[in-house]
Amino acid sequence: MSIPIAPGVFDILPGEAKELWRSTHLWIYLESIIRKIAAEYAFQEIRTPLFERVELFKRGVGESSDIVSKEMYEFEDKGGRAMSLRPEGTAPVMRAFIENRLDQAAPLQKLFYIGPMFRYERSQAGRYRQHHQFGAEVIGSSAAEQDAECIDLLYTLYNRLGLSHLSVQINSIGDTASRSAFRSALVDYFRRYAGSLSEDSKTRLEQNPLRILDSKDPEDKKIAQGAPNIFDFLNEECRAHFQAVQTLLKQLKIPFEVNPLLVRGLDYYNQTVFEVTAGELGAQNSLAGGGRYDGLLKTLSGPDLPAIGFGTGLERIIQTMLKQQVPLPKPFAPEIFLIAMGEEAKLACFSLLHQLRSCGIPSQMDFSQRKLGKVMQYAHQIGAAHVIVMGENELKTETVEVKRMDTGEKSAYPLAELALRLQQQLQLVKL
Ligand code: HAM
Repeated sequence: MSIPIAPGVFDILPGEAKELWRSTHLWIYLESIIRKIAAEYAFQEIRTPLFERVELFKRGVGESSDIVSKEMYEFEDKGGRAMSLRPEGTAPVMRAFIENRLDQAAPLQKLFYIGPMFRYERSQAGRYRQHHQFGAEVIGSSAAEQDAECIDLLYTLYNRLGLSHLSVQINSIGDTASRSAFRSALVDYFRRYAGSLSEDSKTRLEQNPLRILDSKDPEDKKIAQGAPNIFDFLNEECRAHFQAVQTLLKQLKIPFEVNPLLVRGLDYYNQTVFEVTAGELGAQNSLAGGGRYDGLLKTLSGPDLPAIGFGTGLERIIQTMLKQQVPLPKPFAPEIFLIAMGEEAKLACFSLLHQLRSCGIPSQMDFSQRKLGKVMQYAHQIGAAHVIVMGENELKTETVEVKRMDTGEKSAYPLAELALRLQQQLQLVKL
């Protein structure tokens, strides 16, 4: 009996996968654009392990958050240590920052990562147990420009990918003092409706009442409409910071909405928080989430430095690109497919194959020596752009014909010049 894949995860496959969003070439395309934009915005890549000590997420992300309390893949390693597959990327980057003393390398660190995150979620469309994030984290700046730069980076990425109909929502959840006053007011307010709140929100009332504000439960939503407003609790500094972020976003012509109910599900946030949603994604419509987390490094026994960042799900980006029918690349396929007829031609073709590749031309050769018709069929199946058949005649005349698979058009080339001339003529994929 064959062993099926674990629930909630998926394979990414070459060619056009049955569910198109799982096709490798789309992932490589997206990742290449991300890397290009990250470089333009002067972010540097960091890679941290896929698992960390459980304690990092408990202390960093917060025990009351869903991803830590309900969704972590926890295990004990053979040394008896409590470990977890990473449910998110911010706490691991902070751990690496502290451990490697990155603050001593430069006063401002702009870091990014691309990689899998693991959450034991109820599997449904758009929610996976292994998903992939592009995340960015900036450590060492409390400037409003830094908040705006992060949102600009995200928005520019989506724009460059051709996405439209996006909604950028921002909010400020204040600093510790303003949030604590707000929290008390929320508890007083929601207590009055405790009987009507969902079970989840009843628990949140004690642990993290702010989270009731972004509950998806219809009754909770109704009650939340009348809840106290965070803006009445922000002090002057938080207010000015949030105002400055908005002015900068307007200057960059990034459309946004202020949503006082946006609080985000992870405990480390303060001041600016934001989310980007795309209507096409349905219920799981969040493309990205992020915000400031000025106290996190200190909570993890690191230096007291301000920080801000975001994470955006690659699955959801690709799914949105497909739904919005933006122009996308084709799967990878060889430019040249070589077919040899006879032993002598086989040797010559094998050298030519190496020569073509040395000139950067993606090429493949038939080693099977099946019937010409079958081999042509295979070349077609793998999407080869051109075919060269080499036999006695081609060897004698030292000339080959390059046949375009789409139009059938043929062009003759002297064998000795073939690789160099094709290199000049073909538009080659630059990775
Ligand atoms: P998050 O909102 O939990 O934030 O996740 C960020 C993004 O990852 C979401 O907007 C969504 O696109 C994607 N995502 C999350 N869970 C899943 C899932 N189960 N299946 C598919 N996609 C998913 C964070 O993780 C923070 N670390 C972001 C951050 C970085 N804040 C500051 N710095």
